[in-house]
Amino acid sequence: MSTQPTNRRLTLTELNRKKISGEPITMLTAYDATFAQRIDAANIDCILVGDSLGNVVQGQDTTLPVSIDDMVYHTQAVSRGVEHAFLIADMPFMSYRDNVTAANSAQRLMADGGAEMVKLEGGQPVLSQVRFLTDQGVPVCGHLGLTPQHVHRLGGYRVQGREQRAREQIIKDAADLQQAGALMLVLECVPTDLAGEISQQLSIPVIGIGAGPEVDGQVLVLYDMLGLTVGHVPKFSKNFLIDGRDIPAALEAYAQAVRSKTFPAAEHSFA
Ligand code: KIV
Repeated sequence: MSTQPTNRRLTLTELNRKKISGEPITMLTAYDATFAQRIDAANIDCILVGDSLGNVVQGQDTTLPVSIDDMVYHTQAVSRGVEHAFLIADMPFMSYRDNVTAANSAQRLMADGGAEMVKLEGGQPVLSQVRFLTDQGVPVCGHLGLTPQHVHRLGGYRVQGREQRAREQIIKDAADLQQAGALMLVLECVPTDLAGEISQQLSIPVIGIGAGPEVDGQVLVLYDMLGLTVGHVPKFSKNFLIDGRDIPAALEAYAQAVRSKTFPAAEHSFA
């Protein structure tokens, strides 16, 4: 008799297996229970409660005003809708500024919110927090390239890692995050070949958004891929509802496009 529960969430072990076998990992953001149920029903591997909720739910210009209370509220809502997907929650701006603050934030997102992993942005400045959280048993996802919480320092939302020095820094940060204990990495808005090189070098799954097809999986902001976003839609996104009957069909089309590696195409990627 099998000892495996039939209704359970995907695990990091299964995501790692996908990396090894070359089966692309699918991920979308969600902020509420209904969309989480729909994404789950489309058999998408991971749901990210992104602090992009600051932009698409709260109507803020940046993700900076998002608080840990906001993140816990939305993570709880999403968690109620998820049966199968692996659930990741963003640590918002300043919620991981030192080790103890990071641990308190992770506790809230995991114990109160129901997340299985937390994501934080940056390289060298957050290595100590990644190590500390890892030592406490918290699964951590890194986020490099375009890190929206640093938008003012970066001077806008632009492609990162095109110049040699910046490229080398991202490669080093990625290796150091893995060394510090990170178990997944999101790469946002970087050239395809840089993302491919990092995915090859790391043993942990590398998930791209605007990072081309040569990574281990893809994530998009839900409202962008449903064509709901008003105003600027990033070039790396695609409206999957335009050719679909309805939202469930659009979610399935996205999963299928990522798994068959037809998304992202060259027009969604950066050189
Ligand atoms: O907040 C978010 O939605 C994200 C994705 C863009 C990766 O971090």
